[in-house]
Amino acid sequence: MEKTFIMVKPDGVQRNLVGEIVSRFEAKGFQLVGAKLKHIPTELAEQHYGEHKEKPFFGELVDFITSGPVFAMVWQGENVVKTARNMMGKTNPGEAAPGTIRGDFGLTVGKNVIHGSDSLESAEREINLFFNEEDVLLYDKQD
Ligand code: CMP
Repeated sequence: MEKTFIMVKPDGVQRNLVGEIVSRFEAKGFQLVGAKLKHIPTELAEQHYGEHKEKPFFGELVDFITSGPVFAMVWQGENVVKTARNMMGKTNPGEAAPGTIRGDFGLTVGKNVIHGSDSLESAEREINLFFNEEDVLLYDKQD
C-alpha cells in the first residue's frame, strides 16, 4: 500500500495545529502508521531539503525547520502521495485554495505549516530519513 511522509512544521506545532491536521487525514480515510515529535538536527534538515541546496532561501529554510519541534508522520492509503498534496494546497499559502491546509492556516511561503512528499520516490527517501523500519507499523484497519 502507498505511503507518504507528512510533517507539521515548527509553526504548525507552535500554533497547536497538530490535532487539526491529523484529524483531516483521519477523516479522509488514511491510516497513520508512524508518528514522532522531533527536533530536527541541522544535518538531517540539509539532507531532507537537499534538492533546494542551491536556492537562495536554503539557509532560511534549514534555520526555520530546525527552530522548534516538528511532528513527523507516515500515512498510508490508496494514492496517498497525490491526495495529501491536494489536501495541503499550494506551497504559497497566498495561492492555496480555501479548504486546503495551507489555504486555511498558512501565512507565508516559508511558514506554510506542513510538508508532504511530492512523489513516491521522495516519500520513500523521506520516510527512510526520519523513521526506522520498526517505527512504521503495519496493522489491519477495520472498516
Ligand atoms: P516544503 O513543501 O517543505 O518544501 C520546500 C520548502 O521550501 C517549501 O515547502 C517552502 O516552505 C520553502 N520555500 C519555497 N520557496 C521559498 C522562499 N522563497 N522562501 C522561503 N522558503 C521557501
